Amino acid sequence: MAERILVTSALPYANGPIHIGHAVEYVQTDIFVRFQRSCGKDVVYFCADDTHGTPIEINAAKQGLKPEDFVARWYDSHQADFRDLGISVDYFHSTNSPENKHYAEYIYGKLKEHGDIEKRDIEQAYCEVDKRFLPDRFIKGTCPNCKAPDQYGDACEKCGKAYAPTDLIEPRCALCGTPPVRRKSSHLFFKLSRHADFLKETLRKPGFVHQGLATQLQGFFEQGLADWDISRDGPYFGFAIPGETDKYFYVWLDAPIGYIATTEKWAKTTGKAQSALDFWAAGSDARIIHFIGKDIVYFHALFWPAVLKVAGLKQPESVKVHGHLTVNGEKMSKSRGTLIPVRSYLEHLDPSYLRYFYAASLGSGIEDLDLSLKDFRLRVNGELVNNIGNLANRSLSMLAGAALEKRLAPATKEGPGKALVEAALARVPEVREAFEKLEYRNAIRIITEISQTANGFLQNAAPWAKVKTDPEAARADLSDAAEVAYLLGALLTPVIPRVTEKLFAQLNAPPLTFEALATARYPLLDRSRPVGTPEPLLPRLEEDRVNAILGQPPAAAEPAKEGKKEGKGGKAEKKAAEPKPAEAKAPEAKAAEPAPGEIEINDFAKVVLKVGKILAAERVPKADKLLKLTVDLGEEQPRTICSGIAEAYQPEQVQGRKVVVVANLKPRMLRGIESRGMILTAGPGGKDLSLLDPGDMPPGSEVK
Ligand code: 2FM
Ligand code: ZN
Repeated sequence: MAERILVTSALPYANGPIHIGHAVEYVQTDIFVRFQRSCGKDVVYFCADDTHGTPIEINAAKQGLKPEDFVARWYDSHQADFRDLGISVDYFHSTNSPENKHYAEYIYGKLKEHGDIEKRDIEQAYCEVDKRFLPDRFIKGTCPNCKAPDQYGDACEKCGKAYAPTDLIEPRCALCGTPPVRRKSSHLFFKLSRHADFLKETLRKPGFVHQGLATQLQGFFEQGLADWDISRDGPYFGFAIPGETDKYFYVWLDAPIGYIATTEKWAKTTGKAQSALDFWAAGSDARIIHFIGKDIVYFHALFWPAVLKVAGLKQPESVKVHGHLTVNGEKMSKSRGTLIPVRSYLEHLDPSYLRYFYAASLGSGIEDLDLSLKDFRLRVNGELVNNIGNLANRSLSMLAGAALEKRLAPATKEGPGKALVEAALARVPEVREAFEKLEYRNAIRIITEISQTANGFLQNAAPWAKVKTDPEAARADLSDAAEVAYLLGALLTPVIPRVTEKLFAQLNAPPLTFEALATARYPLLDRSRPVGTPEPLLPRLEEDRVNAILGQPPAAAEPAKEGKKEGKGGKAEKKAAEPKPAEAKAPEAKAAEPAPGEIEINDFAKVVLKVGKILAAERVPKADKLLKLTVDLGEEQPRTICSGIAEAYQPEQVQGRKVVVVANLKPRMLRGIESRGMILTAGPGGKDLSLLDPGDMPPGSEVK
């Protein structure tokens, strides 16, 4: 029976849009999953929305929504983002689900049964106005160290010092501004400290976690592992703790349990397993692999294995950790427009470009990776479009041309074409190893080298020069080049499956897998089948299209991390869902929704306005109001645009004028002329019109 692998990506908070930083992880995981499937492995891939915790509860209230309705909205958009990015999850579930409640209660029951839960009284900040305990990020005050005002309860952003919320000078509730009081509450702690030896051993297991991280985590043991507070007082959006009053599981307890709950939901929905325990029972033969970002290693490499052990469940074999994304060399930022929601990216560009670029940049380490928009464009155009795309297109379009009639040549016994294909096949193990080790950038380097060699072969063979004089020789060269294109399709399928699917269709060949490649020999293609119809696999990336992905993200709450790193290693309740004083009350909440007739900035950003120069103008017969204009928008060809300005302007008056054009309007037929754009004017219409003047900007300049 094929080896079973269960793979997960970290669960995104149902608290905001998925952005291109999150996408690094989903693409990295998806490439791994698709590669393993191509190798013939039995892989299931799960993800879900992480729905609980204070930031979500408060952001829901800001929008005047029940938390259940708030997270349901994000669920739909997250699921659509996964689909449109081509992430091949077998199930995308939610932690706010009956399956998750079941497993959270089951696991908690086991922890209790084994004496791993202890009740302790702790003192916490409490807001008497909001009637809630305040987690660190919900308290603000002056830093006790450098005296910087307006700092959060866990660490100062100015001097970097970590402290307890009780150390803040003049602390106040971040929701309403009132000074909090201290109040006692009993909390439930998981006795993590009892499992130090087991965890040390886990970290030493080869391949469990990146070696550098394992060493870093060892530091926590030297300081002594602190027990973990797994409860929160109400009001809290989460699961009530059985046997307790007004106590809820801390979001970080039930979040990873979401991996198990999703397995359960998938098993029940598809009937492909009896229950989640087919994978998660301690004795199961499944290999469990988690993909996460470097900020949540503590939870996955320490708490989670300890919880699973006490609950008698299966340990993960490996936790694969990646670095964070920067854009143009800097941390992603809302104000620079670089915190780009996946949806905004997808509105402008094909996901294959991003998937390719991430693969070309990713290694197995935890260093950050940079999406420099310039490198993105140059790399994609240079490697994917001009090198790989060109090889496929050059070979296929000549084979499909009138002279060669779509027929491939019989395989040759020897010669440079056969040698080319065999040399390419000899590199498959290197590519396979690179994917296996998550060294995707090495895989891409080898793939581009194979493609470059094949392009060089075509350049030398020059089949275009012989197609008239010696068509069979041209056919043989092109057929061997097509073999390499076919092989590249197989190697790139984990990375850009939608593109390679098109390539296989154009070759009229079945998808080629890594499994088949393990024993494949020259020729790979069935030479008796005609090739299909070629067309360019992907257009070039144009600068303005790439820059268009930068912009204002939707006016939604940033994704929040309720990540409290406990123990002496310090705490970091992540910053994202920053509550602003006096913003969390229901009345203001309504203001977050656009009023009737109002649009979000993102709606406006959909309209592409550009400077155009009118090169020529003429009247449209039998249409008093229309002028037919030829307008230069800085593109390869000027556009024809019909504009209703004929009563206000004579054709010769507008010739040479600069105007503002809506450049992305769907073409319309006006009096039998296809009009591609709209010229902006001011005034009521008819004679009373004036063309908007963009000044001296060159054609194609953006108007914002
Ligand atoms: O850091 C985060 O975005 C968390 N929502 C990840 C949770 S992963 C798992 F534990 F559920
Ligand atoms: Zn308050």
